[in-house]
Amino acid sequence: MRTDTGQVFRLEDYRPNDYLIPQTSLTFRLSPEATRVTAVLTIERRDGVAASAPLVLDGDGLTLLRVAIDGRDLAPADFLATPDLLTIVKPLAASRFQLVLETELAPARNEALMGLYRSSNVYCTQCEAEGFRRITYFLDRPDILSVYTVRIEAPRHEAPLLLSNGNPAGSGDLDEGWHYAVWHDPFPKPSYLFALVAGALGKLADSFTTMSGREVELGIYVEPGKEKLAGYAMDALKRSMRWDEEAFGREYDLDVFNIVAVSDFNMGAMENKGLNIFNDKYVLADEETATDADFANIEAIIAHEYFHNWTGNRITCRDWFQLCLKEGLTVFRDHEFSADQRSRAVKRIAEVRTLRAHQFPEDQGPLAHPVRPRRYREINNFYTATVYEKGSEVVRMIRTIVGAETFRAGMDLYFERHDGHAATIEDFIKVFEDVSGRDLSQFSLWYHQAGTPNLTISSTHSPASGEFTLEIEQSVPPTPSESRKRLMHIPLAFGLVGVDGKPVAYRGFEGASVENGVIHIRKRRHMVRFSGVAERPSLSLNRGFSAPVTLSVEQKADDQFFLAGHDSDAFSRWQAFNTLLTDALIAAFRQILGGEQPGFAARLTGLAGKIAGDETLEPAYRALALALPGEADIARDLGKNIDPDAIFEGREALARAIAGANREMFSELYDRLVDTDAFSPDAASAGRRALRNILLDYLSLLPKGAALAAWHFQSATNMTDRAAALTVLALRHSGSPEAVKALADFEAKYARDALVMDKWFQIQASVPGPRTVEAVRVLTGHPAFSMANPNRVRSLIGTFASANQTGFHRADGEGYRFFAETVLQVEKRNPQVAARLATALRSWRSLEPGRQAKAREALLSIANAENLSADLRDIVERTLA
Ligand code: PHE
Ligand code: ZN
Repeated sequence: MRTDTGQVFRLEDYRPNDYLIPQTSLTFRLSPEATRVTAVLTIERRDGVAASAPLVLDGDGLTLLRVAIDGRDLAPADFLATPDLLTIVKPLAASRFQLVLETELAPARNEALMGLYRSSNVYCTQCEAEGFRRITYFLDRPDILSVYTVRIEAPRHEAPLLLSNGNPAGSGDLDEGWHYAVWHDPFPKPSYLFALVAGALGKLADSFTTMSGREVELGIYVEPGKEKLAGYAMDALKRSMRWDEEAFGREYDLDVFNIVAVSDFNMGAMENKGLNIFNDKYVLADEETATDADFANIEAIIAHEYFHNWTGNRITCRDWFQLCLKEGLTVFRDHEFSADQRSRAVKRIAEVRTLRAHQFPEDQGPLAHPVRPRRYREINNFYTATVYEKGSEVVRMIRTIVGAETFRAGMDLYFERHDGHAATIEDFIKVFEDVSGRDLSQFSLWYHQAGTPNLTISSTHSPASGEFTLEIEQSVPPTPSESRKRLMHIPLAFGLVGVDGKPVAYRGFEGASVENGVIHIRKRRHMVRFSGVAERPSLSLNRGFSAPVTLSVEQKADDQFFLAGHDSDAFSRWQAFNTLLTDALIAAFRQILGGEQPGFAARLTGLAGKIAGDETLEPAYRALALALPGEADIARDLGKNIDPDAIFEGREALARAIAGANREMFSELYDRLVDTDAFSPDAASAGRRALRNILLDYLSLLPKGAALAAWHFQSATNMTDRAAALTVLALRHSGSPEAVKALADFEAKYARDALVMDKWFQIQASVPGPRTVEAVRVLTGHPAFSMANPNRVRSLIGTFASANQTGFHRADGEGYRFFAETVLQVEKRNPQVAARLATALRSWRSLEPGRQAKAREALLSIANAENLSADLRDIVERTLA
């Protein structure tokens, strides 16, 4: 484990290296404890660089066996080697030479899962961001593009399959039952995209013909026997390949495209050129083991990694500060793909819910950073919701500003201008300036400035003059190391909605530029006056969530109710209802703290029933509308002095009120939604299941609720329904005989399916209340649990810390103590996973004083531990700062 050196990397310090590595040839002789890696690097000194400039290569925990230049071993005085650095000091007369390096690795003992490691006896690699330096010394930075040839040698019986990037370029037998394969990737790539897989795996094979008629062989490799479970992923892959051709004109460029599923993986998946490596959770699925949410995630992540082939691989990042150049853009592309494959409105609502749940708290807490950060201590900690999700929103805003057609022209120019290069955010913005003729300099602050902007908006209508006036004020709150903010360019989509639900016409406007239903806010204050507005409209704001901002709007409840029923923009219609629910929950929270019983307006609970039964709306949309704002959402809106128990109580009360007010209607609808057709994972079927399952959640709060949920559990014919019922039983009827039996039945049935057991851990870690911390502690001893497997750790510990408000934030601090202990335990093996877990306490300052003090103690107990990894120290120190 690399301990912290305290080194800070700064964007302004970027400069190209003195050397390039145009060609890289690697030979792996695989063995669990002693793998030999021979790297032959063609090194070139850049023009104008002095021959005395030392060549300094990155390493991380390496054992060097040999170093030679142009066939001759170097004398000890000619180089300086530590596990983390190799410096060639001997002046190099030639400007181009061959450097040979031999290193020895122990993949079986690599529990950090970076570099070359073993997962269930399969050799695999993970190199982003800085894992390649755990394989050999290298200029391990994304602006060093190299053409790779890779030879892999292994015993044939242990590793019949030998894969790397690019196209196959030979294979054959060796002595003593060994064999080899050679792979050549003609596209120059940075080291973080290197990959190797070797082992015994099953294959699902298919093929794809590209738009120009080239045949591509597709393979998805999984644990032998699980090939059938890769069918949905394969289908998603082919749809992704077609979509990128149609939506962006991007064609695949190698003869083969391979995906490998492994069961130990730090993240979701990795876009290695021609050889994507996936967390098996995002490949394996059938109706018996995967939920509709799993299917949707698989589709999105398969697409995401595939789309990286152009946005990330063909055009990569100059340095890691530019991470959003590939990630934000690729998330935007996968969002568009899913929107086209499913329901655009439903997809957009789900995206915004995710953004608010993950990115907003990050942006509003101690870990806030710009979409393009300016400094980092540990790059692994910048694979964040800000870089990914807010990064995607920024790309979406560019499209909103320049228009869809010009956006596509800009993307075409981006591919044309930067193909084969390592680019920057400035390069990206420039193509849109060039194709649109617009000045995007103020807009580019979205990349450079952290924090969620707020818009305060009020409106007045004068029937006498027919004038409708909007007063808009923007502010960006201070964030760590950025106390003073500049004014942003915020594209705010809006609608003026008349009593019939139709748009209200206006004659003219002044006070801001307004184009295609979007107000361009650029100043601190705008008074936008619309003339010729006869009737007072309801104001629909931030339609489609055109900008990732918060709104403070003085709006009458009547208007919100009206918009919740009539807004023609589906997102804003959902938003209006969600705002009403949030307001009611915040009022309930205050009532509970004041010792009162919370009460809810009949027109609110009635509207819930109306939306549930509105057959003109898609079931998936109705299900999303009925999902109450989460406890964490309410906490975020409250902002400070959070008492999670009072939030929970208020939310329960509202759920009961909605269930009570609509019992007959919900029950009838629930019965009508029974699915008798054969299972299909398509969006429409999933939407019906989602609606039925949320109705179950409400109905379970009424008398005989536990029995209903138990029946739902037993009669379920797919995992979506089964897991939904188990969640209702465990969370709403914790400790009941029905819950105990269902949990035991589930465990017995799926004990040997690790991915399904993750759901079982997850559900139990979510049970609200003070007793869950003990239950989770006990579950860490369950035979299916392992501290070494990231999926298990995330399901049990991650869920408890990030998704269980009352359990984790137990008033006596026991949840925090357990958490601190566990984070340190995980860190010993896997610093990256531990650091991510540790972000669960990022909003500790918004808690009420008692919990705040206990959370701080837990954070300090981590900070004071000895030999902390760079990953964990960085998170904990920033969180405490
Ligand atoms: N680049 C991967 C993706 O977003 C994520 C990842 C980062 C995976 C770092 C592994 C390590 O597609
Ligand atoms: Zn990505």
